[in-house]
Amino acid sequence: METANLPHAAGIIGAQVPRIDGPLKTTGTARYAVDHDFPGLAHAVAVQSTVASGRIRKLDASAAERMPGVLLVFHHGNMDKVYRLFPHQDEATMSEARPPFEDDKIYYWGQYVAVVVAETLEQANAAAEAVRVEYDVDTPNVRTDLETGFTGKRQSSWKRGDPDKALKEAAVVLDETYITPVETHNPMEMHGTVAVWSGESVTLYESSQGVVNHRIVMAEVLGVPRENVRVISRFIGSGFGGKLFPWPQSTMAAAAARKLGRPVKLSVDRRMMFSNVGHRPLTEQRIRLGATADGKLTAIRHDFLNHTSILDDIVERCGEQTPFIYSCPNLEVTSGLARRNVGTPTPMRGPGAVPGLFALESAMDELAVKLKMDPLELHIKNDAERDEGTNLPFSSRHLKECFTTGAEKIGWKQRTPEPGSMRKNGKIIGWGLAGASWGAARIPCTATVELCPNGRICVRCATQDIGTGTYTVFAQVMHAKTGVPLDRIDVFLGDSSLPDGPTSGGSMATSAILPAATNAVNSAVTRLLNIATLTPNSPFFGAKPDTLTLSGGRIQTKGQEQAGLHGVAFDPDDTPSARPPAGGVPFEELITLARLSGITATGRTFPSFEDPKAKAYSMHSFGAHFAEVEWEPEIARLRVSRIFSIFDCGRIINQKAGANQILGAAVMGVGMTLLEETRYEHRSGQPINGNFADYLVPTCADLPELDVTFLDYPDLIVNEYGARGIGEIGMAGVAPAITAAVHHATGVRVRELPVRIEDLLKSTFREA
Ligand code: MOS
Repeated sequence: METANLPHAAGIIGAQVPRIDGPLKTTGTARYAVDHDFPGLAHAVAVQSTVASGRIRKLDASAAERMPGVLLVFHHGNMDKVYRLFPHQDEATMSEARPPFEDDKIYYWGQYVAVVVAETLEQANAAAEAVRVEYDVDTPNVRTDLETGFTGKRQSSWKRGDPDKALKEAAVVLDETYITPVETHNPMEMHGTVAVWSGESVTLYESSQGVVNHRIVMAEVLGVPRENVRVISRFIGSGFGGKLFPWPQSTMAAAAARKLGRPVKLSVDRRMMFSNVGHRPLTEQRIRLGATADGKLTAIRHDFLNHTSILDDIVERCGEQTPFIYSCPNLEVTSGLARRNVGTPTPMRGPGAVPGLFALESAMDELAVKLKMDPLELHIKNDAERDEGTNLPFSSRHLKECFTTGAEKIGWKQRTPEPGSMRKNGKIIGWGLAGASWGAARIPCTATVELCPNGRICVRCATQDIGTGTYTVFAQVMHAKTGVPLDRIDVFLGDSSLPDGPTSGGSMATSAILPAATNAVNSAVTRLLNIATLTPNSPFFGAKPDTLTLSGGRIQTKGQEQAGLHGVAFDPDDTPSARPPAGGVPFEELITLARLSGITATGRTFPSFEDPKAKAYSMHSFGAHFAEVEWEPEIARLRVSRIFSIFDCGRIINQKAGANQILGAAVMGVGMTLLEETRYEHRSGQPINGNFADYLVPTCADLPELDVTFLDYPDLIVNEYGARGIGEIGMAGVAPAITAAVHHATGVRVRELPVRIEDLLKSTFREA
């Protein structure tokens, strides 16, 4: 279905619904992981290695152990037994495979070598300082050139046609290498664990993007049955992928709490965020494009390396979008891993796609320059009709319209191609564009809905809201299906003891929860209407259930509904007193009449990977960014002044939370392009800018005008609402759109991020 406006478009689905958890967060009422406190809680502080490679020759904790209030110092000499996760298990994922303190070896700077637990945080901090560690030091390898001396294996994927032959025969060939640096996740809330044992069972308060995964992993790591582990993560100050999988501090806190028989709290501080909880790895990507003289792609080679840690094989899948985003008969993607003495990399917003499309889309822009062709025209000319990687039709693809809409918005027709040829407000300006894509799927989810005798609806699901609006999406579905106002809907998430829900990852949470939530509420309503006809003192006793409906929160006879909110335009300021009088019977009265404690039903999401109908399609979201930069050559100042983001992510369930995602991603993209880079000092291997003074992220003053447009075509292959996902994709394509604009303004092509002032000084333009 290709209509942008479904009949329910005027209702709450697709409206600008403020986050229902917003007031809890803005008033400081929401409790995050390390906000939790318990009687007898002890405080843990980790001790980090000050070398990046070698082994611990001697660890002396005796002074620390004698200090006031110290309860325990764990290190490789006395650590309680903890286990590895069974490898290659598709059910659960761990980040760093090596358990903390497994042996005396050091693989990266900042690796935990001990943890001190004391009565107070101050005592633990002081004692952590007193742990003496001597090392046999090896020279660490944190080199940033990945190709030089690379001896590892290269893996080929997605090969089709004969790209090498096609490159030889192509009229125009582009061959360039692009580099993206290490970037570090910097969510507002850092990682942390509060572990509380009760007998053989443990509750972990975490900042986790996946409480179910976390529970499964920690059960294996701690050697206890799954049902003995409960993971709670009700509010999360974002994660950007860094909180998808458990990190060692969770194991350390749980083991210490078990040993002491007391609750233990362990926080990861901002400096540790740069070494111990993942990062986006360094990538080096060689792109070769072949094209006909009139700009039709004939060959793509995408050969990339990314760095990984010494012990874990983490592939940053830079070539994931390459096989299908454009049409091209001859193609190959290869990848390889270069080991470095760094912590284990992990997914970061748009993993693979974000660095990968920086390379591919930069190459497309360079090819357009070589061809003397408008980059807009080049992108449109090479649009793909079907997924040429899998040879499946797209479930819904509107990339071309993203480009044409963006062109309209920025006024692309006025663009003059010569670098440095455009002026605005006494400055040189440049315009650039780039495409984006990200996969979609419907992963499993279970949710329960309870119609309660107090007139409230309770929804329960062991997924979590990392700030994206998941609480609100559940409430929207409940409101859409029952007409019960949002202030009478309670959503319970972020607790692994609830029915299993999806990880908030891969931009797949919303598409996963929608069917489960819908099926659950539909079943609950069906049960309610049945009971209405079976309860002797009910006004609907003896009626046929299918003549009844739940509307405006009231059981009503179909065709005679009064004042139902169902299907009516959503008004965020709606108050019960402002509503007109209603007919029928409030659902809670019926529940009381029937002497029930409530009516509960469970709903499930049938995963797309088991659905033959969905498997017949390639499911992806698409988008385009159009960036404008201002360049003042007199003072070598570059600013990003405008970004237009046009996205095709299926139907948007909540325009407000959805637009927030793309806006935030564009902000992160500006940071990636101009500021962000984690630097390892080459002798010590230390991430030397591991703090907010030296690792720069954009501030308000750095930001351009941002403008987000959703095409809003429902993708009904993914789910009945047509929603795909939006968390990751907004960051893809930002960097290449900006660097294309930088080239257009300055004549300088930047192929290694971030853009540095030294790069721009190569511009030959001396005045605006
Ligand atoms: Mo996303 S990097 O799967 O949080």
